[in-house]
Amino acid sequence: MLEGPLVIAIDGPAGAGKSAAARLLAQRLGLPYVDTGAMYRAVALLAWEEGIALPPDETAKARLVLLARHLPVRFAGTPENPKVFLGARDVTSALRREEVSRAASVVSAVPEVREELVKLQRALGRHGAVVEGRDIGTVVFPNAQVKFFLTARPEVRAQRRRDELAKQGQSADLDAIIGEIRERDLRDSTRAVAPLRPAPDAVVVDTSDLTLEEVVEELYRRTQKRLGG
Ligand code: DC
Repeated sequence: MLEGPLVIAIDGPAGAGKSAAARLLAQRLGLPYVDTGAMYRAVALLAWEEGIALPPDETAKARLVLLARHLPVRFAGTPENPKVFLGARDVTSALRREEVSRAASVVSAVPEVREELVKLQRALGRHGAVVEGRDIGTVVFPNAQVKFFLTARPEVRAQRRRDELAKQGQSADLDAIIGEIRERDLRDSTRAVAPLRPAPDAVVVDTSDLTLEEVVEELYRRTQKRLGG
């Protein structure tokens, strides 16, 4: 028998198809969805707007910690049209900006910031949630009842990234994106703090040859099985 509120951890690298699948799974199970990447992005956006130096020196670090500690983040909208708010401000599109993505990667490497955001993530998930990120099954909710690690071949993830950029009217070279992805995978999986790796009890799902609907179905089926339903 599995005790306590149902927490489903979904981890994996960028381009593995986590976000869309996590949102649809949460909707299907009637659970809140927590996008932890958006939280690192939100701290990065505020840091950028306040002119905080990155990578941070000790003073800047203290300011980042305060931003993370009092982050008024809220997730709203639908799986088809997800929204992220900071207080009353809709920051959904601001969080996807290229400079914010870069700054988020720097901000997420600061242990003190991670510590604050992990507290917030645990609070948001305490009544049950689908929580998506990089370290959810290993660090944030090591006791989550259900853990998934989504992956896909670098070529497939690069193609997805290129499609995303094309939608925003930008073009990019596929080989260059593949190179960046391989580099980022190596950096993420070898970093000292919360390295990207599957929890020992995570179900690894390769989404390379699956449609979004097939991924959600697989996650839903595995969840039911795990819960004994
Ligand atoms: O998933 P994403 O691209 O929105 O994540 C934004 C950044 O935050 C990315 O550099 C990975 C990092 N991140 C992290 O270190 N830990 C998490 N739990 C979620 C995201």
